[in-house]
Amino acid sequence: PFRIEDFKEEVIQGIREKVGNKQVVCGVSGGVDSTVLAVLLHEAGANVRAIFVDHGLMRKDEGEEVRNNFHRMGVPIETVDASEMFLRELAGQKEPEKKREIIGNLFIDVFWDSVGDAELLAQGTLYPDVIESASNANSKASKIKTHHNRVDRILELQAQGKVLEPLAELFKDEVRALGTSLGIPQDILNRHPFPGPGLAVRCPGEIDEYRLKIIRECDAIFIGHLKEHGWYDKVWQAYAALVPVKTVGVKGDERSYEWAISLRAVISEDAMTADWVELPYSILRETSHDILNEVDGINRVLYDVSTKPPASIEWE
Ligand code: XMP
Repeated sequence: PFRIEDFKEEVIQGIREKVGNKQVVCGVSGGVDSTVLAVLLHEAGANVRAIFVDHGLMRKDEGEEVRNNFHRMGVPIETVDASEMFLRELAGQKEPEKKREIIGNLFIDVFWDSVGDAELLAQGTLYPDVIESASNANSKASKIKTHHNRVDRILELQAQGKVLEPLAELFKDEVRALGTSLGIPQDILNRHPFPGPGLAVRCPGEIDEYRLKIIRECDAIFIGHLKEHGWYDKVWQAYAALVPVKTVGVKGDERSYEWAISLRAVISEDAMTADWVELPYSILRETSHDILNEVDGINRVLYDVSTKPPASIEWE
């Protein structure tokens, strides 16, 4: 039977052989995959630089949280704040694939600019990413989304044998098991997955600071209530997405004409399929109440009851 401890030893050995004393760089996002990757490289004694590119599409206080978490684990990271650049490049862009392309390419540019000439790149690619990207490549018709970590420049590097993907055989739960055996705290391992393009895929159409602020506030309120009531760890992913459609309402004594926010909570095994979660109405009620009272620009709260397929987990 498959034992994660054996796998860990095998992978660490593999990393040592491949890396030697070359410098290896990896991007960290605060997510489970890149965190396990960085700790694994650290554990293998590799000469590693872990770089956190803040693309300005993170959730509320997320950058701080990521830095604190790595500090707790004793793994040094470098932060590059590129948020202004990302928002400038994204301004006015409405097309989902175009947005992903801009973010993916800029991310790699910013990342490599900060890296200089490191000899190896490590990526936290998982098995589902590998198969989803493979099916994208095989057929134009089945092209679903361009995954952020699979854009052309990475493929080029891969062809040169400069990319390490030590998690590429694993599913998410196996990555968590590996993280546990590496001594990573459970609250870090139990963080919900967060997409590479960040809040961009939860803000259909154009992106700007105002929209991002709304999403951040609503998301923080929702996640806060889920944690408070013990539901955070029961779901695979939960978040707020902006529905940039104005509808009429009443706020105070005045007519309001504002956007809606959609809450989504799903369970999933591996993100290939997902089901929406029957959250207690009381949580939805509290979340909706707080959002409608505290967040300017929103006068309607929706709960997303779509399975994947046919919907996807994210909005874009
Ligand atoms: P979808 O929306 O395709 O999402 O059902 C499936 C899972 O993948 C995450 N996701 C991404 N992760 N880069 C990532 O690293 C991406 O570009 C990306 N897009 C979606 C999503 O959050 C969900 O867990």
